[in-house]
Amino acid sequence: MKILAIESSCDETGASIAEPCGRGVKILADVKASSAEIHNKYGGIVPEVAAREQVKVMVPVIKEAVEKAGVNKDLIEAVAVSSGPGLMGSLLMGVETAKSLAWAWEKDLISVNHMAAHMLANWIVEDEGDEVPELPAVGLVVSGGHTDLIEMKAINKWKWIGGTRDDAAGECLDKAARALGLGYPGGPAIQRAAEEATGKWKNKLPRPMMNEDNLEMSFSGLKTAVVREVEEAGELNEEETRQLAKEVNEAVVDILVDKTMKAVNKTGVGNVIVAGGVAASKLLRERMEQECETRGVILNFPEMKYCTDNGAMIGAAGIMRGEMVDIEKLEANPGLETV
Ligand code: KG4
Ligand code: ZN
Repeated sequence: MKILAIESSCDETGASIAEPCGRGVKILADVKASSAEIHNKYGGIVPEVAAREQVKVMVPVIKEAVEKAGVNKDLIEAVAVSSGPGLMGSLLMGVETAKSLAWAWEKDLISVNHMAAHMLANWIVEDEGDEVPELPAVGLVVSGGHTDLIEMKAINKWKWIGGTRDDAAGECLDKAARALGLGYPGGPAIQRAAEEATGKWKNKLPRPMMNEDNLEMSFSGLKTAVVREVEEAGELNEEETRQLAKEVNEAVVDILVDKTMKAVNKTGVGNVIVAGGVAASKLLRERMEQECETRGVILNFPEMKYCTDNGAMIGAAGIMRGEMVDIEKLEANPGLETV
């Protein structure tokens, strides 16, 4: 069974062709167009601009994915789409396109939760015999809009066990980068600047709620603290900017790693699965590896290219745990929760 999968929940437009393969999902083609460069000018996403760009690129992106995979509509059995959470205008583009194609081609329509899809990017394989994550596991899904800890008992049995009570970790990085004049998206910009710092920022930033014995996180105080540091410093030179970037990067990663390990201790599971745009963070990957290794816990991350939004993860989720829906009934749902 091959499916066409569409992603358009934020500033990316993605399409993939996916099929079941062994215990996971194989991606036959994955095409993506991003409007991030335009948003970089504004220091953040402009939703109206994102949606208008998606109107332009949606059909070319789908066409390219279909051609690259060497398939045609007769070989495609279903159309999967990310129906939420995300930005309303952006989601509508993908959802309405998927509905139109499913109707015109007389195919099944599969609704996919964008956050679940981030996690299921870990099930993308190349060959029949490739390994996939073992369950039960603790999942950390961390993006620009969400930061959730999930206890995954089976592919379809997820329980929310913790997460941020305010901003997402990615949002904190994006806002900090903006305050530091580093551009959008903030995560990679902060990472680049942090790697070039030669010294340490003079003040330690707060790690809100980190030492509390629960699975709650908070990033808005950290975001505000960065803005305050910038204001108080007046003008930052290049090295100071890099040092502050390094400190905020470390603060975010400290919180994420600490709470994920607390979740491991609480649930007693032997597997950790990390996903979402922030999972592309080099520091997060290194620190998670260290902590999991000391505990003898198996760590799973998606391939780098499948961390930030993409069509492949929608294909993986569509096959692994997609929900078949009536074409007339599917609606974009910007506020959909991870579980
Ligand atoms: O999953 P994603 O592409 O979109 C949402 O669903 O939100 O995540 C985007 C977030 C942004 O906040 C971006 O700054 C962050 O992921 N991000 C990173 C890196 N690449 C993207 N954060 C840290 N390090 C990275 N390399
Ligand atoms: Zn995402």
